[in-house]
Amino acid sequence: MSSRTLIIGACGQIGSEIVRALRARDGENSVIATDIYDNNAEVVNSGPFEILDAKDYVAVKDCVIRNEIDTVYLMAAILSAKGEQYPEKAWDLNMTTLFNVLNLAKEGYIKKLFWPSSIAVFGPSTPKDNTPQRTIMEPTTVYGITKQVGERWCDYYHSHFKVDVRSLRYPGIISWRTKPGGGTTDYAVEIYHKALDDGFYECFLSADTELPMMYMEDAIKATLNIMDAPSEAIKIRSSYNLAAISFSPKEIAASIQRHIENFTIEYSPDFRQNIADSWPNSIDDAKARDHWNWKHEFNLDDITEEMLKKLTKTQLT
Ligand code: SER
Repeated sequence: MSSRTLIIGACGQIGSEIVRALRARDGENSVIATDIYDNNAEVVNSGPFEILDAKDYVAVKDCVIRNEIDTVYLMAAILSAKGEQYPEKAWDLNMTTLFNVLNLAKEGYIKKLFWPSSIAVFGPSTPKDNTPQRTIMEPTTVYGITKQVGERWCDYYHSHFKVDVRSLRYPGIISWRTKPGGGTTDYAVEIYHKALDDGFYECFLSADTELPMMYMEDAIKATLNIMDAPSEAIKIRSSYNLAAISFSPKEIAASIQRHIENFTIEYSPDFRQNIADSWPNSIDDAKARDHWNWKHEFNLDDITEEMLKKLTKTQLT
């Protein structure tokens, strides 16, 4: 049988788009989509789908063996804002699921593994602008702690057990098909929905909070690129810095106003402001660009144009 891929967390914002891209590229039956919920009709109906609790090692192992899986994308996680509300749950879910797949790879059941890290691995003591690949990392969120520790474990399993694990430190990801949930960068998706629905957005971050961001198409391209690269090209086995653009709520609002003149925004920062303040403004991703030819395409105004066009279309249909 040809190579088969398992996506864990397939109904989520990024998982659902990986399913879509891989099914289009490799054929629908090559991609087994799994999630704890079946709440994404496109994912559930466009090819094989199973309910899977990724914390259950026996269940994941059974799914991998039964479907003759060789590549796994572990996209299930509790993100930064939700993690602060449910710290133990976030620790348990984010770490247990990672150990399950790392151990399956160590035991030879999986050949290749993708696990996403995040800009949340950085903290207030990290240099904020053009944050380097290797620098001070003292994350102050539970989510950031799970991602930083996870990176160390990925590196450990690669160096000790030759596990072929690959990882990206995603910035905030902007997309129109599936909404994000529980993150601090979610405002940059919500704002487009509210601009179209209400012409008004009450932002939970302050006007000048600059964060690294990326359009979904770029994020998917980066993910497939790093997974397709020859193993020797992947010289960093913790996780790669990955960047496209950086902007603040004020700047995204101005970009929307170029299309919707009457759009207004107000700022009511909540607990997520502290999280955003602890993260970099911008990221230096020279290693990704150098090692496996990463290059982003979408800038802020391209994203705004795409988001407004696609969301308007989905509203009409
Ligand atoms: N988008 C994530 C969050 O805001 C960061 O990885 O939690």
